[in-house]
Amino acid sequence: MIKDRIAVFDSGLGGLTAVRELFSVLPRENIVYFGDTARVPYGTRSVDLIRRFARQDLEFLLQYEPKAVLVACGTMSAVALEDLRTMTDVPVIGVVSPAAQAAAKATRNGKIGILGTAATIQSGAYEAEIRSLRPVEVISRSCPLFVPLVENGYVGRESIAYSVALDYTALLREAGVDTVILGCTHYPLLRPLLGEIFGENVVLVDSGREGALELANVLYRQNLQTQKPFATEHLYFVTDEVDHFTQLAGMFLNSNLEGKVRKVEIG
Ligand code: DGL
Repeated sequence: MIKDRIAVFDSGLGGLTAVRELFSVLPRENIVYFGDTARVPYGTRSVDLIRRFARQDLEFLLQYEPKAVLVACGTMSAVALEDLRTMTDVPVIGVVSPAAQAAAKATRNGKIGILGTAATIQSGAYEAEIRSLRPVEVISRSCPLFVPLVENGYVGRESIAYSVALDYTALLREAGVDTVILGCTHYPLLRPLLGEIFGENVVLVDSGREGALELANVLYRQNLQTQKPFATEHLYFVTDEVDHFTQLAGMFLNSNLEGKVRKVEIG
C-alpha cells in the first residue's frame, strides 16, 4: 500500500471539526477517520487511561499506513502527544500548539480564555504553550458537560447547551478575555452558540481547524502532498453503533455518509 492517507482521530465526533477543515484546505487527500464512540468522553478520565486509549486508537490507524497523523483531540494532544510520536516515524500533529499560537497572535488585550475538558485544563498544556510565546493573562475553565451534549446533538441556541454554556463561560467573560481557545475539538460544534454568548468582539480559536492547518503546512514543508488529482476514498471507523454517528457526522460534514461508516473493535 502506498502511504497516501491522512489519519485523523478523536474520542468521538469532535475530530470532524478538523476533517471539515482538511476537506477545504487539502481537498485531494484521502482521510481515514477514527472516533472511539464506545469510550467517549476521554476528558474526564485519568492521564494513564487516556494515554492507553490514545495508543490503541493510533495502533488501529497505523494499519492504514498513513503518511501523517492528526490527533484531532485536545485531551489526547495535551497528555499523550509525545507518547504517540514514539509509535511511528510519520509526522504526528496535535491541536494544542497550533491553537495556542493562533490565540497568542490574535489577542489584543493580552487576556486569553481557554475552554477544555477536565484533563486538558488540568494538564496546563495550552497555558504553558501560550506563555512560552507571550506573557499574557490566561483564564481556564473545564467544561465536562459539553462533550456529552455535542455527542447527543444538543448544540443549538434553544437547547439545554445554552444555559450550560452561559455558566461555563461566566468567568472568562467577567475577566474580559478578547480571545478564547475552543480547546476541545467538540466545542467548535457549539460555535454559533458560543459566538452569541461571547459577542462579536471576542475571537474564538477553533483547535480542530488550527490542527488541520498545521497538518497542511507539514505536508507542504515535507513534500508529502498527494499527486492524485482528487480524493478517491474517505474511511470512517467508530467503536459503537454506526447510525447515530452517520447521521450527526453527515449533517456536520454536509455529506451523506450512509454506508460509509464501519464499526470496529479495538484494544
Ligand atoms: N474532542 C476531545 C477533545 O478535544 C473530546 C475529549 C473527550 O472525549 O472528553 O478534548
